[in-house]
Amino acid sequence: MILAIETSCDETSVAVLDGRRILSNVLYSQIKHHRQYGGVVPELASRLHAEKIDQILVRAMEEAEVGFSDLTHIAVTIGPGLEGALLVGMTAANMLSKALNIPLVPVNHLHGHIYAAESEFDLRFPSLICLASGGHTMIIRMKENLQFEVVANTMDDACGECFDKVARMLNLGYPGGPKIEALAKEGQINIDFPHPIKKKANAFSFSGLKTAVLTKVNDSQPEEFPNIAASIQHRIATVLSHKIRLASETCDVAQLVLCGGVFANQYIRSHILSEVPIEDVVIPSPKLCTD
Ligand code: KG4
Ligand code: ZN
Repeated sequence: MILAIETSCDETSVAVLDGRRILSNVLYSQIKHHRQYGGVVPELASRLHAEKIDQILVRAMEEAEVGFSDLTHIAVTIGPGLEGALLVGMTAANMLSKALNIPLVPVNHLHGHIYAAESEFDLRFPSLICLASGGHTMIIRMKENLQFEVVANTMDDACGECFDKVARMLNLGYPGGPKIEALAKEGQINIDFPHPIKKKANAFSFSGLKTAVLTKVNDSQPEEFPNIAASIQHRIATVLSHKIRLASETCDVAQLVLCGGVFANQYIRSHILSEVPIEDVVIPSPKLCTD
């Protein structure tokens, strides 16, 4: 019976799990506090985590209908993430572990994204993982549980960051991904944005794409913004599908796992499902893709 705490960025989240089964998963989003600044303000994030963590913890325990004495482990995200924000979760977790005299399990944020799939699917090895979030864009090969080999990494921006920056250019606000996805539904894919470093199997690059969008936005009327949103979303989907395909050609793959906030995007999910020649593809439900 695990109590798990995550405060790596702008969401205070506590879950109770019975093995792999999620009994409760309570999340407080700080978005409305950061929105006016156009992105996450680290100091504000730390303070809001400190204000909310007790309530979220109590609610997670109540919804799970378990008592503190039922818990066997405390798990906590230890990074990568915002240092001050992580510290709030780690302090709460450490205190609980000491008070209840049960083990503290430190969890790497990226491992958390990957293993989120495990509460809904059985993982099969060797697997190929594509992780796309606000801070990371990677393809990883996993031979066995927790045996990772990085196949491709970003040379500059992360995929989610590209969504967030483009959303800002289109005056859509923060966080960008869901706003671009919504606007794209009103537009056509009629702009051929560049496909960066297409031949390179071991790297992603998103900064040039960002610049290409900026140039286009400067030359466009707001009526064209839905087309820009649809076209950039399509380009990002093709970039991800293409790199996954390249990686899958060089090794045995029993299963493809997609994880991280960007895969909350329905267009990207279905594009990869139709373009990548791997039969067993698992994608956590949107709520488990994000932090
Ligand atoms: O994994 P995550 O919640 O936090 C990090 O570890 O970074 O990912 C957040 C990122 C943000 O950049 C956000 O814009 C993006 O995931 N994202 C999306 C969608 N929902 C969240 N990107 C595209 N479409 C979405 N629906
Ligand atoms: Zn994350």
